[in-house]
Amino acid sequence: MSERQYRLAVIGGDGIGPEVTGQALKALRAAGERCGFTVDTEDYDLGGNRYLTTGEVLPDAVEQELTSFDAILIGAVGTPDVPTGILERGLLLRLRFNFELYVNLRPVKLLPGVATPIAGLTPDRCDMLVLRENTEGPYVGSGGVLRKGTPAEVAVEESLNTRFGIERIARFGFEQAMGRRKHLTLGHKTNVLTYSGDLWYRTVHEIAEHYPHVEVEYAHVDALCLHMVTQPERFDVIVTDNLFGDIITDLGAAVQGGMGLAASGNINPEGDYPSLFEPVHGSAPDIVGRGWANPVAAVLSAAMCLSHLGEHRAASIVEEAVGAVLPTMRSMGGPDMGATTDQLGDRIAAAVAAA
Ligand code: NAI
Ligand code: MG
Repeated sequence: MSERQYRLAVIGGDGIGPEVTGQALKALRAAGERCGFTVDTEDYDLGGNRYLTTGEVLPDAVEQELTSFDAILIGAVGTPDVPTGILERGLLLRLRFNFELYVNLRPVKLLPGVATPIAGLTPDRCDMLVLRENTEGPYVGSGGVLRKGTPAEVAVEESLNTRFGIERIARFGFEQAMGRRKHLTLGHKTNVLTYSGDLWYRTVHEIAEHYPHVEVEYAHVDALCLHMVTQPERFDVIVTDNLFGDIITDLGAAVQGGMGLAASGNINPEGDYPSLFEPVHGSAPDIVGRGWANPVAAVLSAAMCLSHLGEHRAASIVEEAVGAVLPTMRSMGGPDMGATTDQLGDRIAAAVAAA
């Protein structure tokens, strides 16, 4: 019997990136053995350290090579001595834009046994899927400065919104909602961002006509933040723009128990390019090398990758293994987790193998 085989590019990156990515790979390999597929990986040395030693962020030849993989896993990039913006724009945003990874998919789900800062919140009331538009908005780098360094300095940062871009994220959102609780919330700020807000509002409601079974709700993004905390059960699928999505998903991460748990996928649904999966957290230089990093966000990102590759059973097995290991952890990161990063990775892989 010929086995299914997947080729993954792995960018461990900086700080705790390689530590958590190593655990994600253990889970992937165990899932492959369990479900009959193999995972071939190739490591790419990219990130802050590479930039500091060679001055390179993402060489064109490497970008080209990356297109040949089935998916990409990233740990985290960023070191304290790399000026802010260089890696974000030169690596992360470049891959999102050039590979048309127009969906940033971030589940916000409270897992059993995880402490949330929201008193009384139970897992049955917290299961949202945030879909952040990932290729437009204020992140396109359109703008400039005038009279820099003078008292009359001017900075312009434009937000780019296209009907094409909104249509494709909205369509993806409705498709996701059809497979869930059939509810979609558009988050924006139409009352003040009247030009882009109006385009978003009209476009999403036009797409909605093709999905009569999905209930559509609109929420101003500030009120949406309020309700994510006070009534998270209001939300099923949330569709929003790049900047709002960036912000509300950190709030979501807090609600679900912290950065150590928040997974994300940067997805090209058509499969024209490899999709990219990464934990939401950064390289955490304050805890690097100590075994204090929670690997769960990276492992859950790898599970999203499996789902994207069509290995839905393997993805569920990995998620269930995480669910089984979470209650054995005393905290969700830091010195008091009750086990090291590596030990948790082994526990998760063992739970996958035993599934
Ligand atoms: P961060 O997410 O790295 O750390 C924030 C806090 O959360 C720290 O106290 C850290 O110890 C803790 N933390 C993060 N992940 C954790 C985990 N898995 N387990 C336990 N604790 C964890 O954000 P920060 O400090 O703002 O940024 C550090 C570096 O990471 C910067 O260079 C930044 O540019 C970069 N960064 C990279 C991202 C990416 O690669 N996508 C995303 C966010 C930041
Ligand atoms: Mg963010």
